[in-house]
Order: sequence, then structure tokens, then C-alpha cells
Amino acid sequence: MTLRDVAQPIARGRESDVFLRPDGLLVKRARTGRDLVPEAELMRHLHAHGIPVPRVHDASERDLVMEYVPGPRMSQEVDARPWRAAALGRQLADLHRRLDTAPVPDFLPGSGALLHLDLHPGNVVLGPDGPVVVDWASAARGDRMVDVALSWLAIAVTELRAFKRVVRGRLVQAFLAGVDDTVRHAMPEAAEIRLSRYRRDAAEVAAVNRLVAGCAG
Ligand SMILES: Nc1ncnc2c1ncn2[C@@H]1O[C@H](COP(=O)(O)OP(=O)(O)O)[C@@H](O)[C@H]1O
Ligand SMILES: [Mg+2]
Repeated sequence: MTLRDVAQPIARGRESDVFLRPDGLLVKRARTGRDLVPEAELMRHLHAHGIPVPRVHDASERDLVMEYVPGPRMSQEVDARPWRAAALGRQLADLHRRLDTAPVPDFLPGSGALLHLDLHPGNVVLGPDGPVVVDWASAARGDRMVDVALSWLAIAVTELRAFKRVVRGRLVQAFLAGVDDTVRHAMPEAAEIRLSRYRRDAAEVAAVNRLVAGCAG
């Protein structure tokens, strides 16, 4: 019997399939065969320190079993309720401020503060107790401003359905009002990280480069 026989697929992310089990827990399985234990360890650590992440129940190399957080992704909410764009931008900035003070676990290699490195609105679930950050697979240590700059790039350049220019503008403006001005200095590094991930089309590369150029000086 496969997982598909007993659990209901609820999402297909860029690298994982996500299922809801009959017992109400969620299973994340990496299609790439990536070991999910480190991601689970980090989530346990963050949950214990009050950072809003789903509670982990169990983890193996193949599956990460965790609390299912009901609610739309922030990206879906922007589409469905565009008048909430400014509030959502503030919420995203708020999440970064919480990560600013998160204690870094010893087992995360490198030096510096905790970075999620993929904190875009598709990785935020708006649960009944507030926004929850998922998808900690890319987490590392470094300069917090690079993490913030990556979020800025994600909301400023990603082509989102029904994402009208004015709605995007409100989201970005509210986000920037809630983060440190020095984020501009981290944009070249964030752009490099973003453009080296996956395949980016020419329009996106151009948009990223325009934004980075606008931050210079
Ligand atoms: N604990 C959770 N509760 C509710 N939804 C979740 C949870 N974890 C993941 N999801 C949903 O599944 C999607 C894919 O999971 P994610 O961890 O982002 O994997 P990927 O690496 O494939 O992007 C998320 O965008 C989110 O919508
Ligand atoms: Mg994801």
C-alpha cells in the first residue's frame, strides 16, 4: 500500500508532495529523495523557541510528519483578497522580525544568524493562530538582511496570478515599511542566490537586475 492509497494529496510544492493523513497529520515527502531529518530537527528547535512553525510529529529520511495548519497560503490570500495586501506585507515583515531574534541551533553549519532563504508568500500558511512559516529546507546561517532581501525580491518580481500592479505595490510598500532600510545593501547577494536557483526566464532576470540597480547608491 502506498501513501497515495491512504492519504489525500493536498499540495505539490517545487520539490515535495504533501499529503493529509486520515489522522489529520500532514506528510511532506521530497521527490528528490532529500533527507528530511535536518529540516525536521530545525523545525523542532524553532517550535520550542516560539517561532511559528508547524509542530513536528515524526521524521525519517523519506517523510516529515507534522501538524497540518489549515488556512490559505499568503500568496493565495493576496489573490483572493487583494484589499488585504498591505496587511499581508506587514505580516511578512513581522515574521522576519521574529526570525531576527530566533536562537540559532548549534547543528546548523556556518556562522551568523538564522536564515530561512525561501520566505516568500507561498511558504506562509495563514492559520487560525496567525501566520506559520513552512518549508525550512533551504535554511542556513548568515546575514539576516540577505533573508529579508530574498523576500523582497520574491514579492517584487514573481509573476503571480491576478497580481495587479497596484496590489503588488501595496504589498511591497508595506513589507519595506516594516524592515530595516539596510536591506538595500543585501540585494546584490540576494539576487545572485535567487537567479542561481531553478531556471529563471529572461523577463525575471531583467526584473531582478532592474530592482538591484535601483537599490545601488
Ligand atoms: N504543516 C503544513 N500545514 C499546512 N500546509 C502545509 C504544511 N506544510 C506544507 N504545506 C503546504 O504544502 C506546500 C508545499 O510544502 P513545502 O514545505 O513548501 O514544500 P516545497 O519544498 O515543495 O515547496 C506549502 O506551500 C503549503 O501550502
Ligand atoms: Mg515551498
